[in-house]
Amino acid sequence: MTKFNYFVETRFICDTMDASPRPIVKKNDLIFLRRLLHKMRDEKTRFDQKTFVEKGRDYFYDYAERNVGPLDPTRRAFLKGMIIGIGALAVASAVPVIDYLNQPQIYIKSFPWIILVDTDGNPIKASQVQVNNPAIMLFQYPMEGDITFLLNLGDENNNPIKIPPAEVTIPENGAKYHFPGGVGPSNSIVAFSAICQHLGCQPPEIHFYPPTYFAPGGIPPDFLPPNAYQAAKSLGLHSVIHCDCHGSTYAPELGATVVTGPTVRPLPYVKLYWDSSTDFLYATEMNLHAPVILGHNSDLESFAYLSSYNTQTGCPQQLLSANETPSECYSIVRNEGDTFQSG
Ligand code: FES
Repeated sequence: MTKFNYFVETRFICDTMDASPRPIVKKNDLIFLRRLLHKMRDEKTRFDQKTFVEKGRDYFYDYAERNVGPLDPTRRAFLKGMIIGIGALAVASAVPVIDYLNQPQIYIKSFPWIILVDTDGNPIKASQVQVNNPAIMLFQYPMEGDITFLLNLGDENNNPIKIPPAEVTIPENGAKYHFPGGVGPSNSIVAFSAICQHLGCQPPEIHFYPPTYFAPGGIPPDFLPPNAYQAAKSLGLHSVIHCDCHGSTYAPELGATVVTGPTVRPLPYVKLYWDSSTDFLYATEMNLHAPVILGHNSDLESFAYLSSYNTQTGCPQQLLSANETPSECYSIVRNEGDTFQSG
């Protein structure tokens, strides 16, 4: 049996996610809720129900800001809606209600091989991935909601450029990890998490700026701050990934290394495999020494499966037909310390 027996499919999407069942709250809010839930249950930061009943909503907001992070108007509105929706007393008594909003955590023991397909389910050919496409192409890996940029990087004339392997530094702790470079006919195709490593903004807030802006005589784009533009120019970058939420900038041709903060972590990459005989692209794994997808404890855990997984067993469906043992494909995460630890 060749390893191609292990391939499973995922949707390949342009600018928008597919129509598969979605979490009932946005992923950013889900991440926030998970952290809030953890703090509310923690002995050291336990949520004071009595104070909440006395002071009401303001205490809840203040608690969330002190223990989880700043509330922008959108997040505040979300929490307000949650209080109204489930009732103040339910919030006070709790946390099970937030559990209801949360989905079960799942973790898989190894990364699946997933063939990238278009919205009709047909395998995408590497030679058909548009060079420097500003309408970012996205796919989900390794699980539902883990959205990922797929970029065919090129120069200002839209000729694909070879993306060599690189050593990427994590500014947060100085650690380094290996980025394997691009794949495809020109070694120019790369994939990175599309969830900003600062506070988790997603497309369209985080997006790709193609080389037209950085070529000699190029005009800086309106939404790219001067410091980010200058930093990219001084590094000689052809393009950047920039997050409009708070200004983080990443260099896709350097393994999505950090160009400007506030992020202190690069975007983790998804390792791709290009089958030169078919021109098909596969997502195969993530680097466990790179930062994990924001909001996860590891890149092998998430909230829900892709539709190509068997929901009863957690295994990729084609893996099952290859006589894999279903019970070994995943386990439910029962507590924060029960997740896969990278080596
Ligand atoms: S979430 Fe992207 S810069 Fe803050």
